[in-house]
Amino acid sequence: MIKPALSTAAAIAALLTVGAAAPGAAASGDHVDPVAFVDQFEATAGKYEGYRRSGAKGICATGEFVGTAEARALSTASVFSGEPVPVIVRFSVGGANPKAPDNVRGQRNMALQFDLPGGERWQMGNISSPVFGASTPRQLFELLASRQPDPETGVADPGRIRAFNEANPEVLRQGAYLASQPVPASYGSVNYWGVNAYGFVNTEGAVQFGKWLFEPTSGVKGLTDEEAKAKGPDFLFDELRRRVAEQTVAFDFNLELAEPDDVVDNATVPLPEGREQVTLGRLTITSVAEDAGGACLTLTFNPMIMPEGVKPSADPMLAARAAPYAISLSRRLTEGAKQQ
Ligand code: HEM
Repeated sequence: MIKPALSTAAAIAALLTVGAAAPGAAASGDHVDPVAFVDQFEATAGKYEGYRRSGAKGICATGEFVGTAEARALSTASVFSGEPVPVIVRFSVGGANPKAPDNVRGQRNMALQFDLPGGERWQMGNISSPVFGASTPRQLFELLASRQPDPETGVADPGRIRAFNEANPEVLRQGAYLASQPVPASYGSVNYWGVNAYGFVNTEGAVQFGKWLFEPTSGVKGLTDEEAKAKGPDFLFDELRRRVAEQTVAFDFNLELAEPDDVVDNATVPLPEGREQVTLGRLTITSVAEDAGGACLTLTFNPMIMPEGVKPSADPMLAARAAPYAISLSRRLTEGAKQQ
């Protein structure tokens, strides 16, 4: 195992905001070679065999989704039929470290696979920040490279980081947002955003672009620094099991509607404040795995897998995720899949 020289928080921050060991070789134009991409995740954040190269520490759960009439007016997708749809859920801590502490500020994730009639599926990875730390695959790759620890010293070159940040200030927005938020009290008490825009296609073929977020129906709750310290580094899995047993974990799936001149191809830019919001449905978490197993363990959540009636925006990050996710999946399956 290559041990990351960065602290966990710094490693997560690096992933949130990412860089290029050999500019031009692995990344030409906007394209980044997917194998080089996953290699760069490992070089920057550490290689932990068997684990996802991002979102390593996680737990499987299951859920049920019911769509609304408002959603059916926006999209023909069968997921919004109003009939309950089974969902495979994975909650995780951001970053590559499988021992990442639960009681520090940073990213939490909720990945979903909706299993739809006729064999259709919808996969998505949602994060606890309204923006991502890179607008293009190339920028993410170079961000990661700028944070790669020097093999001699074990630390990244601060001058290189500074120069990258100065040339790419938008990469800092995600980390700044997460640093401004308290430690989530529960996987069930934090907002999760899709960050990339998608189009919703109705029966007339009209396309409404938007960005979504999952909002906990029982409200957003954070811990004070003292409470977080007292919880220790591993409280989120049991906390989730307890709350789901009480049937109190659910999220409203809300879509912010983009207006014609809004930016819908850049995950570092949120939609303007106050855009009309439509509730597409409700996701209820129905069970949580007792251990590190479950249906999510051997899945990857590819944001290019979606039902008829939903289409990707022109955001270049969407298509760029599919191949690195598959490569990360094949590496961890070969090594023996783990998530705790
Ligand atoms: C080109 C850009 C990106 C690359 C190369 C990348 C890479 C990766 C990789 C390699 C994994 C592990 C996959 C696995 O082993 O199953 C992963 C997981 C994840 N990524 Fe990305 N990522 C990118 C962009 C994003 C963006 C924009 C988001 C924001 C929503 C995101 C959210 C997630 C989440 C939530 C997970 C964990 C999913 C799970 O629980 O399986 N990623 N990413």
